[in-house]
Amino acid sequence: MTAGRFCSILLPNTMGTTVVFANQKGGVGKTTTAANLGAYLAEAGQRVLLVDFDPQGNLSSAVGVKTDGIGSYEVLTGGANARDVVRATSVENLFVIPSSINLTGATVELVHEEKREQYLKRALAGVKPDYDYLFIDCPPSLGILTLNGLVAADQVLIPLQCEYFAMEGLTQLLQSIKKVQAGYNPELAILGILFTMYDSRTRLAQDVVQEVVGYFGKKVFRTIIPRNVRLSEAPSHGVPVNQYDADCIGAQSYRKLAEEVMSRG
Ligand SMILES: Nc1ncnc2c1ncn2[C@@H]1O[C@H](COP(=O)(O)OP(=O)(O)O)[C@@H](O)[C@H]1O
Ligand SMILES: [Mg+2]
Repeated sequence: MTAGRFCSILLPNTMGTTVVFANQKGGVGKTTTAANLGAYLAEAGQRVLLVDFDPQGNLSSAVGVKTDGIGSYEVLTGGANARDVVRATSVENLFVIPSSINLTGATVELVHEEKREQYLKRALAGVKPDYDYLFIDCPPSLGILTLNGLVAADQVLIPLQCEYFAMEGLTQLLQSIKKVQAGYNPELAILGILFTMYDSRTRLAQDVVQEVVGYFGKKVFRTIIPRNVRLSEAPSHGVPVNQYDADCIGAQSYRKLAEEVMSRG
């Protein structure tokens, strides 16, 4: 259609921004942030595709989708087309490519493949124009799956728990990001460092925030996610927190974070 082609010339590039949620530590809020930030961006009218790239499948269950069929493994290895695997969620505009049990084996299978770090990027290329945001949720390691996530992404969001070893882990992760920037993905930018599970009553949490902000300044999101039990309850109901308890402090924080992310472009 002529009109369509004409529009695509005039409009700015509307290809989806791919954000990878990375931290080699488990339990820091990667999955919780991908699900809830995704839900609030979707609520704001953005089309969001969650890519569950952790064999544990927590992101899929957090949005009420089972991981018993084909999913990110089949997409990764070319056994399925990404567009055919996308599932709708209970939140309008929020979609998910579920994890699949076979993803556990991918780490071993990819070891001897050429360009093994490029698989996810290639697999998602076809669906990138369909969304405003693609969120890749990584497993807690700096292995081949996370490497694929970093190579496929435009930006990385680093959730950080306010605890003593946070800085050590962060330094290691930043080294990996630098290597990826130097080798496979020079365009990779840091979207932001996000404090999660913040407990304002502890001195340690305050100190960690101060130290990290001291080092990274504006790279740290102004929004801090507090520890809030409603955020940990929502996944067992298979819905993001906006559909579980939209008034709780955790929900309000993720809504604010969505605004901040949109304002960062
Ligand atoms: N802000 C929070 N307040 C309370 N519990 C949280 C919060 N963020 C995450 N959790 C809970 O902590 C656990 C780990 O979070 P998760 O997002 O799964 O981390 P990761 O994906 O980094 O392993 C989960 O049980 C989750 O429900
Ligand atoms: Mg997780």
